Amino acid sequence: MKSRFAVPLLLIIAGLGMFWWLSTPEQLPAEIKAQLLGSADLANGERAFWAGGCASCHAAKGATGDAILELAGGHRLNTPYGVFVSPNITPDVQTGIGSWSLEDFALAMHRGVSPGGRHYYPAFPYTSYIRLDGHTLRDLLAYIGTLPAVSRINEPHELGFAYRWRRTLGIWKQLYLDSGFVSTVSDDETLQRGRILVEGLGHCGECHTPRNALGGLEIDRWLAGGQAPEGKGFIPNITPHTSGVGEWSADDLVYYFESGFTPDYDSVGGSMVDVQKNLSRLSKQDLEAIAAYLKAVPPLETRR
Ligand code: HEC
Ligand code: HEC
Repeated sequence: MKSRFAVPLLLIIAGLGMFWWLSTPEQLPAEIKAQLLGSADLANGERAFWAGGCASCHAAKGATGDAILELAGGHRLNTPYGVFVSPNITPDVQTGIGSWSLEDFALAMHRGVSPGGRHYYPAFPYTSYIRLDGHTLRDLLAYIGTLPAVSRINEPHELGFAYRWRRTLGIWKQLYLDSGFVSTVSDDETLQRGRILVEGLGHCGECHTPRNALGGLEIDRWLAGGQAPEGKGFIPNITPHTSGVGEWSADDLVYYFESGFTPDYDSVGGSMVDVQKNLSRLSKQDLEAIAAYLKAVPPLETRR
């Protein structure tokens, strides 16, 4: 009689133990930690800031002028899981990240783990920022430290019941958080630069790659277009297939990033408007690197 209960109970305990072990928030890798040392390069931090699009989510919606540099959060992101409200990442000590160490910041950006050891939701695209090295993270935090401190208390997210328990994100991360690059490119410096801008900072794949039912990116359809993260609308294919941007020259792409105009003189719309505004702050050399990378990825046909 006893053993009839003991075996299933043991299995449940083993299962819970396994869950707990697999969902434990990770530490910062030693290699990244070592790269945080040394003095920061503010110009590189500023470049990372614009390429990374931090203001698109952490500044107030529709902010213009200097308000773009006030990263007090409160920007609401509508998704099928509920509404995510972005937090205050200004250097304010009480309500922002002013009291964080560089390691705290690196752990958040690289692993999606908070200073208190909790998992962040991937609405914060650390799934792409994981590809950044420690030098870039160090420079980026130094630049954010020069921006205005704004006092604003964070609001809670408004999520469906099933998505409120952050611990389960640990399992999701086991499946979908990967620091490796998606595309193999040659040693060419421009392509290497383009790859880190697209796959890392620019987090282009977060919008331009389709997702599966669990919200993970379908890597074999990299940049081939997919449903918008808000759940409505289709985001275009930007691979060099004719159903993507195959007919655009590298110069057309650079011109689009600089000006927001397509080769047909249409102007950029939707969630790409903010991305393009950020990209227009990058050097021509960086934009050419992005274009070169987009020309080099495998062409895939659009599937709707
Ligand atoms: C697509 C929107 C989006 C972009 C782009 C984005 N973030 Fe965030 N970020 C969020 C959301 C949403 C959260 C909250 C996640 C959570 O609560 O689990 C967050 C959380 C954070 C946190 C943790 C703050 C805290 O109080 O715990 C930091 C730090 C951060 N982001 C920095 C950045 C930086 C730096 C960039 C640019 C390189 C950036 N984010 C770009 C949406 C975004
Ligand atoms: C927040 C989501 C989002 C992110 C991140 C994003 N895009 Fe876009 N992108 C869009 C949307 C939406 C469109 C369609 C714009 C329109 O309808 O005018 C678009 C359009 C484009 C186009 C034009 C395609 C066409 O056929 O008109 C290119 C090229 C492009 N994006 C490149 C990029 C690159 C490079 C990055 C990363 C640096 C990037 N995008 C990041 C949402 C995004």
